[in-house]
Amino acid sequence: TRVEFLDYEAVVDYGWSLDDDELFRKAGHADLGPDAHGRLLVHPDESLLEAAERSGFAWPFSCRGGACANCAVYLAEGELSQPTDHIMPDDLAERGFRLSCNGYPLTDELSVVFNVKQRPELDDLIL
Ligand code: FES
Repeated sequence: TRVEFLDYEAVVDYGWSLDDDELFRKAGHADLGPDAHGRLLVHPDESLLEAAERSGFAWPFSCRGGACANCAVYLAEGELSQPTDHIMPDDLAERGFRLSCNGYPLTDELSVVFNVKQRPELDDLIL
């Protein structure tokens, strides 16, 4: 699975919105470093977080077990699995929030914003 990623810090810095259809196009035109915006590949049987780490990126995480939301990402395109044993409430999942530590790609392409743990709606989930 091919993943285009974007750091939520850049979204904040530029005053962009997560639900902006043009978000990744704007990111492509901004002068962002390779850690903030780019692409990576997820191998079969690899979680999104594992793939990011193998690719040399330091995305936030803590428990690695679906219990804290430090690893949360926002899914702009594609689908990432959400195993049953996790902390993410249904309403946030419906809005596109997923956990990267136990999320496995279900589509060939994904666009994700990582580092969304600082979003206020995730505050209560961060341990
Ligand atoms: Fe805790 Fe993913 S690192 S839920």
